[in-house]
Amino acid sequence: MNAVYKILGLPAELLCKVPGIGPIVKVCCTSVGQKILMALTGLSLCGFLVAHLGGNLNLFAGKDAFNGYAEKLHSLGPLLAVAEVGLFATFLLHIGLAVSTTAMSRAARKNEYEKKATKQSGFILPNGGASNLMLVTGLIVFAYLVVHILDMKLNVRGFPGASEIPGEGDKFEHVRAVLLDFKTAVFYAVCMLALGIHLSHGVRSACQSLGISHPRWNKLISIGGVLFAWLIAAGFTSIVVWPWAVVPH
Ligand code: HEM
Repeated sequence: MNAVYKILGLPAELLCKVPGIGPIVKVCCTSVGQKILMALTGLSLCGFLVAHLGGNLNLFAGKDAFNGYAEKLHSLGPLLAVAEVGLFATFLLHIGLAVSTTAMSRAARKNEYEKKATKQSGFILPNGGASNLMLVTGLIVFAYLVVHILDMKLNVRGFPGASEIPGEGDKFEHVRAVLLDFKTAVFYAVCMLALGIHLSHGVRSACQSLGISHPRWNKLISIGGVLFAWLIAAGFTSIVVWPWAVVPH
């Protein structure tokens, strides 16, 4: 396994050796620099999740409200395109950094710890379980994103309601049709659980990487992170359940 992580860490190592690359990139090649970047990208993605959940909650207000929201979003035109490129770049950077920091720390640590210990308390998962599951839950959320974009933006499975022209069509019907597909709904629900676990450790870990840490406040930061994580996960899950619970079919 260490060999795999060593290979995965090669791009970062090679990047560090490129001459004239500048101090910022060099700092980003260190594990501390990468942790800081990972925290910043992770917290930015949390901001996106809040905005995305807020927008999607319009589904509960009905067809006109949700389609009105989708229309407004798409009326931003090039501004939306720029935001989307920024969003995807942030996702890719966050994922790349996760692989790279894991690779670096595994390569630096020749042997596995004989016994893993953590002082972090777990929520739902005992012994700080969420922290041990960051890579696996991150990969589940990534798989979710791929399926989600293929369905919601590109509509590769041909769900009704979507249109070839961005911003056109009946977005409300489209989202409802996707979520009424049983296998998709189960997959979404499982992925929201993974998202909750990922964020429940991710938020407090990001605060720590950014130096937001004080013995007096750490407990509060932990509780706040866990609360935020499960509010986001529960909010999205409520949307997954919504077409099954509310709309007769
Ligand atoms: C049940 C919950 C969710 C619903 C109903 C939903 C709905 C949607 C819809 C309708 C779009 C297409 C927007 C458009 O037409 O431009 C979209 C895009 C997207 N969603 Fe979700 N979403 C959900 C959860 C999530 C979660 C949990 C994440 C992240 C982990 C996420 C990440 C994204 C991303 C990255 C895009 C593309 C953004 C863009 O290019 O505009 N979504 N979602």
